Amino acid sequence: MLERTLVLFKPDAIQRGLIGEILTRFEKKGLRVIGLKMRCFERATLEEHYSVHKERPFYPALLKFMSSGPVVALALEGKDAIEVVRKLMGKTNSRQAEPGTIRGDFGMSFSNNLVHGSDGPEAAAKELKLFFGGAGELVDWKPATLEWVYSIEEELR
Ligand code: RTP
Ligand code: MG
Repeated sequence: MLERTLVLFKPDAIQRGLIGEILTRFEKKGLRVIGLKMRCFERATLEEHYSVHKERPFYPALLKFMSSGPVVALALEGKDAIEVVRKLMGKTNSRQAEPGTIRGDFGMSFSNNLVHGSDGPEAAAKELKLFFGGAGELVDWKPATLEWVYSIEEELR
């Protein structure tokens, strides 16, 4: 199914100069970039984003980390984009993430794990609205490579 998903480059990714490396992975995979912004997001936005974890012991530290510097928000579209992005990211604990994944290649931490990706269709819809809810913030465009990235007959009917 054609899906949209939200990715965040966490403050550690920006501080370590990895915006380009990480963005390139998603682009080269064939995911379509439909939204991109960098902000120091308001605490209320980050609280809402991670509200599922608000009872967890790591929640205060997670909010402190996420509000410690700029974050890049990225909206991506593609077939099964939610699962594809989660696979590219690797396991939450970067030390256990497979080589070849973003966390596996660039991270050593459980908490400072470089990227966030929506974990299901419901979360993706909610998170895209939270980070790209304004008019015109998501851009619909047709990549010239589309018919080479997918078999149009088999996959994008
Ligand atoms: P994310 O939501 O950021 O995409 O990461 P995830 O699905 O792989 O992991 P999740 O369980 O949703 O946890 C959210 C983020 O909280 C931090 N965390 N720290 N120290 C800890 O025990 C701990 N557990 C989670 C990580 O930054 C994790 O990505
Ligand atoms: Mg999560």
